[in-house]
Amino acid sequence: MQHLQIRGGTPLFGEFFVHGAKNSALPLLAAAVLCQGETVFEGCPGLSDVEAACGILRHLGCSVRREGSSIAVDASAAGESCVPDSLMRKMRSSVVFLGSIAARMGEASLCFPGGCELGARPIDLHLMGLRALGMAIEEEGRYIRASVPHGLRGAKIRLRFPSVGATENILLAAVLAKGETVLENAACEPELIDLAGYLNRCGARISGAGTGTIQVEGVQSLKGCRYKVMPDRIEAATWLCCGASAGGEVLLRQVCPAHLESLFPLLRKMGCRVDVGRDSISLKSPPRLAGCGGVVTGPYPEFPTDMQAVLMAACCRAAGESRFTETIFENRFRHVAELQKMGADIAVEGICAKVAGVERLHGAEVSATDLRGGAALAAAALGAEGVTKIGGLCHIDRGYECLERDLALAGADIRRIAD
Ligand code: EPZ
Repeated sequence: MQHLQIRGGTPLFGEFFVHGAKNSALPLLAAAVLCQGETVFEGCPGLSDVEAACGILRHLGCSVRREGSSIAVDASAAGESCVPDSLMRKMRSSVVFLGSIAARMGEASLCFPGGCELGARPIDLHLMGLRALGMAIEEEGRYIRASVPHGLRGAKIRLRFPSVGATENILLAAVLAKGETVLENAACEPELIDLAGYLNRCGARISGAGTGTIQVEGVQSLKGCRYKVMPDRIEAATWLCCGASAGGEVLLRQVCPAHLESLFPLLRKMGCRVDVGRDSISLKSPPRLAGCGGVVTGPYPEFPTDMQAVLMAACCRAAGESRFTETIFENRFRHVAELQKMGADIAVEGICAKVAGVERLHGAEVSATDLRGGAALAAAALGAEGVTKIGGLCHIDRGYECLERDLALAGADIRRIAD
């Protein structure tokens, strides 16, 4: 077991080079199953979730080679369509492989990922969309068996909610379906634009990605290519909130500022100076932060649920109140109890959390309860007095390549320690 030890009170001054996005890399790796020939994904972050996706690809019979931050995948020899529990359980979002495996192999069998630390994680929208494209799907307990008895055919599909994962799964199955698919109320997240960008580079015909209506003209086959994974907007938000919480000045490089538009006004309201370049963002923190007002999470371009915890951490020491309303996941305030151990004054009522800023936070022994909640604890600890020990690092390592290395480079007093 390991923990992070953070001695707070040192402002951050330094640069962060933002990695490729986890939430883009995972569907991109799933998409490579559809292609003949090799794809090289550049800028793949070194994360346990990415390794889990590579494990699934290898099990399917793909050749997978990592060289530095690039991953080469060749699915030409893939033949397996059944993914064992042990691989599926390593990563909740492995359900994104359902569409591509079934489209490529004509069948797929995998176990249902089930709920997670964020609450229930239904996949009804994934299954509805895939069935509309001609997949026969049987659910037996936690197992899903999909087959394609009469080939996939395009369809008009409307999602009752713009689910990111369901949009990705439907896109992955639709690209090789016969005829046209129109997906309405699709997710508009930048990761969808990245996925469609890769598939189009491979020969797919997708238009409208990044808007609520996506059209797909099915093609016969796809060919691998070189593709650079988009920058991780949630990692970028994490560094900005760490800078706000610790004080100081941080500069982010290799980032797409347009993807963080919903965060900037909040940081500015808190008194931070935020300047945006073509692929850089700088943040200068004031002597004392102000509260951020009211924040409601929602589908892109609204404020992302994945940024809620790290922003809340920065608000804990602000002068004034901040209010968070979480509309995406039912159980995404688990970091609150840990922040309270550090002296934060936060009251949760249903889907709302009210943060009354305090003058000081103090170090404590806390545990990451989920990925972004874990990053929030690090952000709070940087601005707290004394030493904080953060356990549960398996959660943090799912989404940050080496959180302590990047923060230490900006001057944080942070170490990973084996218990
Ligand atoms: C993606 O999860 C991200 N994961 C999540 O990031 C992110 O929080 C989420 O999108 C929202 O932005 C990856 O990209 C790998 P959804 P996903 O389907 O696709 C309900 C992180 O920290 N829903 O848009 O699973 C669902 O219960 C993670 O990096 C259904 O009801 O999210 C939830 O309430 C965590 N039926 C809401 O939609 C369905 O079939 C949003 O889920 C599917 C979803």
